[in-house]
Amino acid sequence: MTEISCELIKAGKTIGFVPTMGALHLGHLSLFEAVKQYADVAMASIFVNPTQFAPNEDFDKYPRDLKKDVEMAELYGIDYVFAPSNDEMYSKNFLTNIHLDGITKVFEGERRPTHFDGVALVVAKLFNIIKPHYAFFGQKDYQQTLVIKQMVKDLNFDIDVVVRPTVRLENGLAMSSRNNYLTDDEKEKATIIYKSMLEAKSAISLGERNKEKIVKIIVEKIAEVPELKIDYVAVVKQKDLSEVDNFVSGDEIVILIAAFLGKTRLIDNMLITV
Ligand code: PAF
Repeated sequence: MTEISCELIKAGKTIGFVPTMGALHLGHLSLFEAVKQYADVAMASIFVNPTQFAPNEDFDKYPRDLKKDVEMAELYGIDYVFAPSNDEMYSKNFLTNIHLDGITKVFEGERRPTHFDGVALVVAKLFNIIKPHYAFFGQKDYQQTLVIKQMVKDLNFDIDVVVRPTVRLENGLAMSSRNNYLTDDEKEKATIIYKSMLEAKSAISLGERNKEKIVKIIVEKIAEVPELKIDYVAVVKQKDLSEVDNFVSGDEIVILIAAFLGKTRLIDNMLITV
């Protein structure tokens, strides 16, 4: 893979890269479509990264269909797919970790304490192997995009991180590989998450500036579907997920939601400029 990249770079080509864990959906495909607007050559990786799953999480049952994924990637203009094995990525005597402070301590990082270190590690390795000029991530994993941007800055990767909007079904459900775990009925029920954020957004646009009231609007809306158990609802600053009190005009905030539907944990977010 690295030889291919080096040859392409020597020939003056720019590389755009979409890291994925496979189980490709419309969200990934929109990233694939974006790559060619930025770079000459489009690359993607498909690797279910063990280091970002805790032992009690869904690593084993994470959906995998490499053949179908590769066909889809090709159809959407990806020139090279890198799909390494676990052993290729992590040899038996692998000893290195990457740990980020601050941003990894809250929300997803608080619930999944080793998750972002695993993400940072695999993304750093993939960046070193693929050597992209541009790397593409979905806004759906908003906290992850902040972690990657921080790592790119801290470790001096010469890579532009491009974040693209969340892709949703017509009913508002955010595309996610974990939607595969949901029944059709559950998928419909899960749309309450998006609806709750729309209500919050419209309250803000009508002049509501009290954060607690916005959180209450979201919590009450989600409560309409009793099967959904909220893990957290937060309204924080987009740039670093720090606290905001009451909003003032121009504030760039993000609503973050995590909720369980049965055993499936769903996350979603919405960016709002007050
Ligand atoms: O967002 C994902 O699918 C994964 O966290 C990533 C970035 C591919 C790293 O394994």
